[in-house]
Amino acid sequence: MFEKIKLWRKKKSSSNLRERIEMIKKREIPAHVAVIMDGNGRWARKRNLPRIAGHKEGMMVVRKISRIAGELGIKTLTLYAFSTENWKRPKTEVDFLMKLPQDYLNDYLPELIEENVQVRMMGSKQNLPKHTLNALEKAIQETKNNNGLILNFALNYGSRTEIIEAVKHIIRDSRDGKIGEDGLNEEIFSQYLMSNNLPDPDLLIRTSGEIRLSNFMLWQLAYTEFWFTDVLWPDFNEQFFLDAIEEFQKRQRRFGGV
Ligand code: IPE
Ligand code: IPE
Ligand code: MG
Repeated sequence: MFEKIKLWRKKKSSSNLRERIEMIKKREIPAHVAVIMDGNGRWARKRNLPRIAGHKEGMMVVRKISRIAGELGIKTLTLYAFSTENWKRPKTEVDFLMKLPQDYLNDYLPELIEENVQVRMMGSKQNLPKHTLNALEKAIQETKNNNGLILNFALNYGSRTEIIEAVKHIIRDSRDGKIGEDGLNEEIFSQYLMSNNLPDPDLLIRTSGEIRLSNFMLWQLAYTEFWFTDVLWPDFNEQFFLDAIEEFQKRQRRFGGV
């Protein structure tokens, strides 16, 4: 009896989700959604679990959100997975986080390929353990011809370093005569960033109640719509994601105009 009720509830909630998706798809879908996935540690602490349990749970949410992003027709989903500042954490936690891409891709790479997802990475490859980099590079290689959702992992990413690196690159190119003072503008500068060939995010989501950017895409977020929620990342789900998209659809973007 209870099983039947459970099944009925599950069916009902998935049909609700379908209906919601259809409604949302009738309006403007953000092309690029960026997410600061925060609150894994607090989620674990609330349950008297080690912080890494929160990271493990958070990994499952990545799957849910990338699938619904694909279904909605979002072109790019950028997920902040590890910042250049996160190296400050205890070694055991960092080691665990560095194993996650491997675990995730081991489990889901076939599914990502089947769903036509293109995996990318944005961040410094320096300091990343070999096994982390290998797993990512394999996924990038095997999905490079897919033309569905771009699933862009920001890993060992920090926006200030990204900007400094871009400036250094420009200085080198200028010495080599490839670029001059007159040739530099916003568009060209963007191409020197790690997000080159991606449009700026239309929508930024941050979970866990923190209202800050924590060194994430400082240049690219200039005109992005922000959406914050107190929900911790491991508790985040498709319905919350749709809440964010619906809110985005109500916003009036002016880009400085009227
Ligand atoms: C986000 O959760 C994941 C990473 C930053 C890697 P946190 O680990 O920051 O969780 P809180 O913010 O401590 O709860
Ligand atoms: C930002 O979260 C980085 C990621 C989500 C990967 P943090 O938890 O590191 O940010 P702060 O320290 O609270 O600003
Ligand atoms: Mg945090």
